[in-house]
Amino acid sequence: MADKKFVTTATLLDMKRKGLKVAMITAYDFPMARIAEEAGVDVVLVGDSVGMTKLGYESTLPVTVSEMLHHTKAVKRGLTRALLVTDMPYLSYELDVREAARHAGRFLKEGGANAVKLEGGMDVAPTVKELVKINVPVFGHLGLTPQAVNRLGGYKIQGRLPEDAERILTDAHVLEAAGCCALVLECVPADLAKEVTKRLRIPTIGIGAGPHCDGQVLVSDDLLGLTEGAGAKFVKRYAELRVQAVKAASDYCREVRDGSFPGPEHSFTSQQ
Ligand code: KIV
Repeated sequence: MADKKFVTTATLLDMKRKGLKVAMITAYDFPMARIAEEAGVDVVLVGDSVGMTKLGYESTLPVTVSEMLHHTKAVKRGLTRALLVTDMPYLSYELDVREAARHAGRFLKEGGANAVKLEGGMDVAPTVKELVKINVPVFGHLGLTPQAVNRLGGYKIQGRLPEDAERILTDAHVLEAAGCCALVLECVPADLAKEVTKRLRIPTIGIGAGPHCDGQVLVSDDLLGLTEGAGAKFVKRYAELRVQAVKAASDYCREVRDGSFPGPEHSFTSQQ
């Protein structure tokens, strides 16, 4: 864990140099931001996974800049120490570099984010350079990039073929040279993530990328056991809050219906 001072992009570089692992999770609202802070999380990501975890979309593609801003502002209000990163949603950065800069600037200026994250390799390098020029720190994201789910043909592990692994390595170097301050590696073989991690100066943050990355990220709903079903192989559920929540809500329904809630301890009398 980084020390008590607030975490910056320089802290993350320093942690890599010192061999300290970066703990990153997603948050989409104020209570989860408070929980992340209390748990000592280093980096909080307002992921566009909000589309699937909180908004009921089937993928991250429909998520808008306004939705990301709304959730970023809520998370920001709950943070004191952790670095806040916001995902740039699909079509907010791919078409035009100046438009990308305007959107990224809004995440910092209005949302209070410290950095943005965008998906893709050398195609997005010119955008990364432009954002860094206007003082927006950028996290890259390679491997399984969920905004490309239709091109990739599903949420599949990436970089198993030698030519794909080579492309990911090249993209990682290009993103570092373009100015990225960290790199998320999603669903790639552990040995490929190890190689990328060894070759880069900037920290790698893995999700389904094995133990050798400089840090790890999980979707908070997955680690808390709020999502339906078992989830992907790389997910570790540290709690089963969904089961507890369903039980709590059904106990409440039963007690309302049989009249045992509210009891005298939850009711007021006319005396003071
Ligand atoms: O949107 C998200 O939650 C992410 C993480 C999976 C890294 O991009």
